Amino acid sequence: MAFNEALYKEIMEELTVSQEFITEAAGAFRWDLEQGLKHSEFSSLPMLPSFIGLPDGGEKGEYVALDFGGSNVRASVVRLLGNSRYEVLNWVERPLVTAEYNLISSETDPDNLFDFLAEIAGEAVENDHDREFLLGHTFSFGTEQQDINRARLIKWAKEIAVPGVEGQDINDMLEKALIRKGFGNIKPVAILNDTVAALLAAAYSYPDTRIGSIYATGYNTCYMEVMPDVGRPACIINMESGAFSKLVPNKWDLALDKASEQPGRQRLEKMVSGRYLGELFSMLLKELFELAEKPSLTAVDMSAIMNDKTRGAAILGQILEKEALGDDSLEKIRELAMAITIRSARIVAASWAGTLWHLAGNHKVEPQHIAVDGSVYQHMPHVQENVRRALYDIMGEEAGGLKPVLVKDGSSIGAAIAAAVASFG
Ligand code: GLC
Repeated sequence: MAFNEALYKEIMEELTVSQEFITEAAGAFRWDLEQGLKHSEFSSLPMLPSFIGLPDGGEKGEYVALDFGGSNVRASVVRLLGNSRYEVLNWVERPLVTAEYNLISSETDPDNLFDFLAEIAGEAVENDHDREFLLGHTFSFGTEQQDINRARLIKWAKEIAVPGVEGQDINDMLEKALIRKGFGNIKPVAILNDTVAALLAAAYSYPDTRIGSIYATGYNTCYMEVMPDVGRPACIINMESGAFSKLVPNKWDLALDKASEQPGRQRLEKMVSGRYLGELFSMLLKELFELAEKPSLTAVDMSAIMNDKTRGAAILGQILEKEALGDDSLEKIRELAMAITIRSARIVAASWAGTLWHLAGNHKVEPQHIAVDGSVYQHMPHVQENVRRALYDIMGEEAGGLKPVLVKDGSSIGAAIAAAVASFG
């Protein structure tokens, strides 16, 4: 089991993104954003209106929040108390894939998936079939919205492959499933992207928040657009920033894309999000050690390798032979995991900077909170400090006024706020 030193050097060089690279990336992102707003065919950002604006913190009431985003489904009852206060009650969470079932594969019957969502929403209300509940649904995929409760799925992302859902009205599918399961008393009144939910949740407490970002299994960002498009009020725009395609990929990014469910799509997401970081790491380890099989290490494994020598060695011990696992290779593998992670953080920062520049127009970037949610941002070592450092690299001192806030329960609070806005306007 040989370790290819020359290849290691090449990979590490390819993964290092300079200040110039991210500054240009931020400019290109802003360009695409602004072209996308004008529906230009040259933009890679779909810029999807959400039909909802920022909350004022006074929204009140009890709502069912459903969150379907990739690996787990969650439902809860959220009590909004006004004055920026809330409580989350009856939290229910289930995985979409277990040893017994898989609800995200190309073999999955879409009705089974939606029945599963309906059952979990039902559990959150303790199987009450009578009392009327209004439900907000955080649906973490790109949708074409016609209203706050009308959203068609454009394309799945994050390797979900359930047939028969793309192009369909998601609220409709959920409503039918709720009725099939005897929960006609739960009315889905709002559907929103998880980035939008994070922004609503943060803005409920910090009114200066304009940007919401998810940095998790997938990657995406939304922001409050104040310049109304013709015929549409000012509203939050889901950029689907994972779709940004103007970054120059290296040959491993290209190989990863080619082997994915949807080649050619979600190019930025495939360089930065949790679903793909482990994939890239595994591909590179296979080449570096000339392994017969590609290992299946995840972003969680990468975190362990970066954080904890003993656990890292145990994880790598399962795929590498003993002699390949000397202290020297362990250190190199740790640096490889770091390089992949830091590149991700710097590219994410570039997409935020491009958005901030758009919001600022010809003025200075104003001090503000930025809402962020997601496992990669929250748990992966080196991410938060490298996002911050990259913001300084790109924007200089103006970065000092930016306060990223990790939104707790963003998907649930945001869904409840959207349901409140949908019912009271
Ligand atoms: C994917 C989805 C997007 C979502 C993001 C984070 O990029 O397309 O809608 O916001 O994942 O969950």
